[in-house]
Amino acid sequence: MSYDECYIRSVIRAVPDWPEPGVMFRDIAPLFQDPKALHCVIDAFSQRYIDADISHIAALDARGFLLGSILSYKLNLPLILIRKKGKLPGDTLTEEYQLEYGSACVEVHTDACKEGDKVLLIDDLIATGGSLLAASTLLRKLGAEITEAAAIIDLPFLHGSSKIQEAGIPVHTLIAY
Ligand code: PRP
Ligand code: ADE
Repeated sequence: MSYDECYIRSVIRAVPDWPEPGVMFRDIAPLFQDPKALHCVIDAFSQRYIDADISHIAALDARGFLLGSILSYKLNLPLILIRKKGKLPGDTLTEEYQLEYGSACVEVHTDACKEGDKVLLIDDLIATGGSLLAASTLLRKLGAEITEAAAIIDLPFLHGSSKIQEAGIPVHTLIAY
């Protein structure tokens, strides 16, 4: 394990039985309270994607926004907001999906991207993969190609990253539990 991976791991807080019994919640709030850890994460992603063939970054509401906005600034790329239902004022596409706990619905503005755009998806964590798959469905409906899905944390026991890869999307994560 690299020094950076150890350091990032050390600032993720495990909260048992939250938001419901049986779930081990991986909390990234402490990572954002530690500038060195945030630098490690952003540097890892920006080094990977600095020369990649990507036209847009798409970030997932809400924790994905924290990473997506910094990364879009660093890479000088437009940011697409994939929002929870009912938050976007313009014309939208909608996709429903299941979570590790409960279900949810995400939306994107129909003018957020177009045929031929090459989009990097970013979020904090992959659990069942439902959120990233729903986001990729929305963007593919608009004609975009999904170059990769990136997250800080993978929970491989929930098989989300495998499902995303089976949908033809490469996955890149920094740590796994
Ligand atoms: C969490 C997390 C990911 C998603 C991962 O978000 O930030 O977006 O769940 O789960 P999945 O792989 O099973 O889809 P959540 O929907 O809880 O929203 P939040 O970011 O607003 O807390
Ligand atoms: N989103 C879905 N499952 C999660 C978990 N175990 N920890 C943090 N965020 C999550």
